[in-house]
Amino acid sequence: MDRVVVSGARPTGSQHLGNYHGALKNWLALQGEARCFFFVADWHALTTDYAAPATIDANTVEMVLDWLAVGLDPERSTIFRQSAVKEHAELFLLLGMLTPVPWLERNPTYKEQREQLADRDLSTYGFLGYPVLQAADVLMYKAWAVPVGVDQAPHIELTREIARRFNAYYRPIFPEPQTLLTATPKILGTDGRKMSKSYDNAVYLADPAAQVERKLARMVTDPRRARRNDPGEPTDCPAYLSFHRLYCTPEELLRVEEGCRTAGIGCLECKQIMIRHVQAELEPIRARRATLEQADALAALEQGTERARTVAVRTMAEVRDALGVRT
Ligand code: TRP
Ligand code: SF4
Repeated sequence: MDRVVVSGARPTGSQHLGNYHGALKNWLALQGEARCFFFVADWHALTTDYAAPATIDANTVEMVLDWLAVGLDPERSTIFRQSAVKEHAELFLLLGMLTPVPWLERNPTYKEQREQLADRDLSTYGFLGYPVLQAADVLMYKAWAVPVGVDQAPHIELTREIARRFNAYYRPIFPEPQTLLTATPKILGTDGRKMSKSYDNAVYLADPAAQVERKLARMVTDPRRARRNDPGEPTDCPAYLSFHRLYCTPEELLRVEEGCRTAGIGCLECKQIMIRHVQAELEPIRARRATLEQADALAALEQGTERARTVAVRTMAEVRDALGVRT
């Protein structure tokens, strides 16, 4: 249990099935196997949302409630909010001293995000430094591994480079963390685009059963099946790709594939097959979520902050000592 795992998520509020399969399920699996630090990256949210930070607080609480509902256990995992452990800011500052700007400018997500979020001014110092803050988050706890989706892999690579540079200049304090690439099945939303809060196409963990049913029943399918008698192709069907494939038994999959290609089954009936499984998975999460209130999230965060801070204080003492800034 001495392996340390660190991961964070920006406070996006209520969690949906995309968040669940893309991150939370993997976090849950690691909870029993390593010393886990899972945190809300609210400072990272500010790098892009600095002009409209109003939702960050409420989103933090909503997100943590869903973390608890899926089974993250504040006794076993250290759950905290980045901004509550100020040592992250100090380590960010110090790592910034030795991080060459070209490393940051070369970062693929830096370029991509600036293009994608063209409506905001991201020519900021904070946004360029995003991966340095992320490196501070990870190195603070001397992580052995960081479970993330492939989009975050360049940031963890940078984290290793920063660690290597620090260790070479001063003394070896930081292990180089590995990326635990999360096999992220791409979860599509009800409209067939990537499931995302901003597309309004998501199925939330806390959605009542009837709403889950309604959303999935109207999810888009292979457009070739416009009429009941038109045959289709499951691999062109967003419902099949995201849900049947993930949730159904091999026997059910055979039945669906054949039924689709021969028009032996209608889309609604077909989707019912996976809806049953999705509901079965969500039911216990929903039940636990119903017993939780804001105070539970705040208590978990408080407990986690305390534990995280203990480690962070220790690391920073070593870092200051290595750098000779002991004050
Ligand atoms: N950048 C990550 C994301 O957008 C969130 C994050 C911040 C993170 N710090 C981290 C993930 C440290 C892993 C480790 O998803
Ligand atoms: Fe998708 Fe099933 Fe309809 Fe085929 S029958 S298009 S797999 S929902």
